[in-house]
Amino acid sequence: MKTIFIYLAVAGILAASCSNQEKKEENAAVDTKTNVLQNIHNRKSVRDFIRRKMLSKDDLTTLVKAGMAAPSAGNKQPWEFIAVSDSMVLNSLSEKSPNNKMLRNAGGAILVCGNSERFFEGEASEFWTQDCSAATQNILLAAEAMQLGAVWTGVYPNKERIKQLQESFNLPETVIPLSFIIAGYPEGEQTPKNKWKENYLHWEKW
Ligand SMILES: Cc1cc2nc3c(=O)[nH]c(=O)nc-3n(C[C@H](O)[C@H](O)[C@H](O)COP(=O)(O)O)c2cc1C
Repeated sequence: MKTIFIYLAVAGILAASCSNQEKKEENAAVDTKTNVLQNIHNRKSVRDFIRRKMLSKDDLTTLVKAGMAAPSAGNKQPWEFIAVSDSMVLNSLSEKSPNNKMLRNAGGAILVCGNSERFFEGEASEFWTQDCSAATQNILLAAEAMQLGAVWTGVYPNKERIKQLQESFNLPETVIPLSFIIAGYPEGEQTPKNKWKENYLHWEKW
């Protein structure tokens, strides 16, 4: 009788601990979903930065790692990244591109490029722009998660911007810049835009 009682007690404890574990896993999944969606919806272009409050190389590496986690057609990973952590380099870039006034205060930057040596052949070669765009967006989301500010400045297919950045960074001919992400610590309040438009969503057919 005593043995049966002990057996039932142990079984009860085991069942309770399993259901606690399941609850914890369920809660963690809900937290992840909430956090990821919040991160996506809170992201915004940040153009005002605390003057030259620099991102560390660790921060820039974390951002680039997020970029490299992006999907790419055929898993070609055709990207290359140039991280700028030096304020002198930012100063010089800012002088060369008066349009990028964000660079004057920025704390770092990342040039996202495609390397044509890793592009598909033929018409599929154009997939590199989508691959590098996915990497760019990953970096922006990671910056948001790290409470940094960042803005995607478009380069490709603007010939003038491509040339200017190819020269500034001394890029080999096979390397084409797609986007230049300017980053830093946000100055002032920045709010995301609500872009949800129900009429842009089509169900099953147009
Ligand atoms: C391909 C592309 C090019 C962009 N180029 C610039 C740019 O040159 N300068 C700039 O200030 N913002 C640029 N942006 C940022 C957009 O202006 C911004 O994403 C848009 O206004 C929506 O605002 P949000 O990012 O805060 O949601 C670019 C964004 C994309 C996707």
